[in-house]
Amino acid sequence: EDFFLEYQGLLLPRETHCAESLNFAQEFTFKDDDVVAVTYPKSGTTWMQEILPLVLNGGDLTPVHTVVNWDRVPWLEETRLAKIVDKLTSPRALVTHFPYSFMPPSFHTSKAKVINVIRNPKDVLVSSYYFHQMANFLEDPGSFDEFMDKFLEGRVLFGKWTDHVKSWRCAELGDRIFFITYEEMAQDLPTSIRRISDFLCCSLSEDVIHKIAKHCSFESMKANTMSNFSLVPKEYMDSDKSPFLRKGVTGDWKNHFSSEQLVRFTSVINKELEEENFSLPWSLD
Ligand code: A3P
Repeated sequence: EDFFLEYQGLLLPRETHCAESLNFAQEFTFKDDDVVAVTYPKSGTTWMQEILPLVLNGGDLTPVHTVVNWDRVPWLEETRLAKIVDKLTSPRALVTHFPYSFMPPSFHTSKAKVINVIRNPKDVLVSSYYFHQMANFLEDPGSFDEFMDKFLEGRVLFGKWTDHVKSWRCAELGDRIFFITYEEMAQDLPTSIRRISDFLCCSLSEDVIHKIAKHCSFESMKANTMSNFSLVPKEYMDSDKSPFLRKGVTGDWKNHFSSEQLVRFTSVINKELEEENFSLPWSLD
């Protein structure tokens, strides 16, 4: 389909990805002090683009007020990276939606750290559904029921949710990887920021943690033009249809799933996780 670029079996948005950007990603040189936030789309990427620079710089709000999030914490696989890579100062923070097997050689030889954010796939589906309505560079999602089928079959950006999650949880990166859930962040952001800062060996005072948490709240990010995607032209992202920072809650799936859809969705997801004797650290309900 025209909206998609197929890359080694993975569907990517043509608007932001091309052969050169994927080549650039494969040749990208990771540094030992790089941090990369790994997410399946709609799982908390933008949130990490806000949190990470603040944790790494000790809570200085300058970058989050002056640099748009996609330049502050760029995507490894997107075209924008090549243009701004020279301006990034270490320790650098990046994001990627790549499954583990797509990471470039230098990632494996470096000591770059990974923060993997996972979100309840039912909420990921709902968030993605609205995102497809507002992002004009993506195909119309059709009905929620149709979109659910596409999601479960992996005919969506970055493939199947289960493949993505399994790839990173089975990656055996030892103490280079830290797992956190969107739900934990939503429940207690200061504690989540403390755990992230401990993982990155950044010692932050309680005051700084709370300052970061305040800045990274849904309301504060929604009001920040550097973070809310309002600077993207309307022809690409139409916030009148649905804002990028839409609801920012857990469990919105309950407002969208019928009981039949819930059974269908959970049986497919659970089966795929069980196939490899794989269990998640938290319940998907
Ligand atoms: P909803 O559509 O459920 O509101 P991504 O950045 O990976 O594309 O994910 C987008 C989702 O993260 C959206 O979910 C968005 O609202 C949510 N999000 C972004 N920043 C957030 C924050 N500070 N607090 C809670 N949710 C946030």
